[in-house]
Amino acid sequence: MIRFLRNDTPVAIQALPPDLTLLQYLRDQAGLTGSKEGCASGDCGACTVVIAEVAGTKLQYRSCNACITLLGAIHGKQIITVEGLGKINALHPVQQAMVDQHASQCGFCTPGIVMSLYALQCNQAQASPSQIEQALAGNLCRCTGYRPILRAAYALQANQRDATLANALQKRQQQVIRQLNVMQSIPRAELSQPGHYFFIPTSTSELATLIQHHPHARLIAGGTDLVLEVTQQLKTLEQVIYLGAIEEMQALEERADTLYIGATVSYTRALPTIREYYPAFARIIERLGALQIRNQGTLGGNIANASPIGDIPPALLALQAQLILSDGRQQRTLPIADFFTGYHQTALQPGEFIVAIELPKPDANSHFFMYKVSKRFEDDISAVCIAISLRFKEQHVHELHIACGGMAAIPMLAQHTMNTLLGEPWNESSINKAQMALTADFTPLSDVRASAAYRLQVAQNLLRRCYLESTGTNPLQVSANA
Ligand SMILES: Cc1cc2nc3c(=O)[nH]c(=O)nc-3n(C[C@H](O)[C@H](O)[C@H](O)COP(=O)(O)OP(=O)(O)OC[C@H]3O[C@@H](n4cnc5c(N)ncnc54)[C@H](O)[C@@H]3O)c2cc1C
Ligand code: FES
Ligand code: FES
Repeated sequence: MIRFLRNDTPVAIQALPPDLTLLQYLRDQAGLTGSKEGCASGDCGACTVVIAEVAGTKLQYRSCNACITLLGAIHGKQIITVEGLGKINALHPVQQAMVDQHASQCGFCTPGIVMSLYALQCNQAQASPSQIEQALAGNLCRCTGYRPILRAAYALQANQRDATLANALQKRQQQVIRQLNVMQSIPRAELSQPGHYFFIPTSTSELATLIQHHPHARLIAGGTDLVLEVTQQLKTLEQVIYLGAIEEMQALEERADTLYIGATVSYTRALPTIREYYPAFARIIERLGALQIRNQGTLGGNIANASPIGDIPPALLALQAQLILSDGRQQRTLPIADFFTGYHQTALQPGEFIVAIELPKPDANSHFFMYKVSKRFEDDISAVCIAISLRFKEQHVHELHIACGGMAAIPMLAQHTMNTLLGEPWNESSINKAQMALTADFTPLSDVRASAAYRLQVAQNLLRRCYLESTGTNPLQVSANA
């Protein structure tokens, strides 16, 4: 049985399909049709709801796409829908601001936009214009135009004090925390029907046992890749094991020489730590999907998915990250360079899973650059992504790792290009040779995102961009010792 709060109502469910999405549950089972289905793929935001989770003594609110969240993943959480905010004669301040600013026309996107603004309001007493834009970047509106919607968001900021007072759900925080803590403490939460299961292990040993007994079960973390198999390819997932309740996989620690990032840490949670050490990497994560996707999606899921156009592998390859893998009996450490073995293929053995990522911390002499080119700035997958980690000694390239996504069947290091630059001076002539060497490393494909020729040209240009940025108005100290 799983338990959760649906707005203020405690709910317990035993038997529903393990691949039922939260949106299907809300609309078809609970009769809450305020949340809309636009794309069923996490792109439009019409289905946005807010999930409240206990974090220490507080509730943490995050917007999420109900269309690509499985119902089982809501166990022990509060799900807040547009119906939970205001009533027709007593609108919530977010809803009132949307009305006042004429920010809705057909209204299809409006509940999702209201919920994104509500999550922002819960998390950010005073949001900056860029935070407002980030909060709304995953909500598409076809008819109103974004200016009135942004005006509503700004008006809310101006009236923050009243809005907070009027927020009945927030006032109930302590009671909600008590209710959720009780729900979470119930052992062996799961959804089950004959032959169909959604398991929620709370430790890696429990996970390993479940995998042993259910070798065909699919592992799910944020679900932002996996659930598309259900909503877009119309597959059935008969057995699902949810990784989000396993504490060991949620660890986020700054160690002496490394950052230890549990496999199921979401992008939103990892971002402040990554930003502190690798701002260029953080800037790419800020463009990964939209906020709803970053609130759910995990670094471990991105790596295990092994997409050639995922944004995380190039960074980890260039930074020589290590993966901690386990099958419950044995743990091993694998350099990420050995992880991708073929198109969507990995070195994971049967029964093995990713526990964590170890990212080396930079030192004063290391430099990291990362660029992503996609058709849209936000909420779009890369055509090409490149990550470059550099170290100089006496004006020469002493250490170098260049990794690309979108250039081959797997994310990979540009070995020829790296060899061409190693030991060479960091100058125009070396970069010219390195740009040529990229043609020996990669024979990219043409697809819907870009042609092969475009991809190669862009990768070469981005390498030059790295050189120009490193030698431009704020040049790197290339004479520093390694
Ligand atoms: C609208 C949208 C926009 C997106 N934009 C981007 C983008 O800009 N850049 C980008 O790189 N990606 C993007 N993605 C893809 C996706 O969000 C990421 O790849 C995300 O990191 C996947 O993580 P997850 O936790 O959601 O994975 P899930 O969907 O839960 O899992 C993905 C796969 O990994 C496996 N898995 C998960 N965790 C583990 C583990 N610990 N051990 C072993 N196997 C595991 C699962 O079984 C599954 O096969 C986008 C997706 C959507 C829907
Ligand atoms: S329906 Fe479009 S993001 Fe969910
Ligand atoms: S109001 Fe019609 S899509 Fe936004």
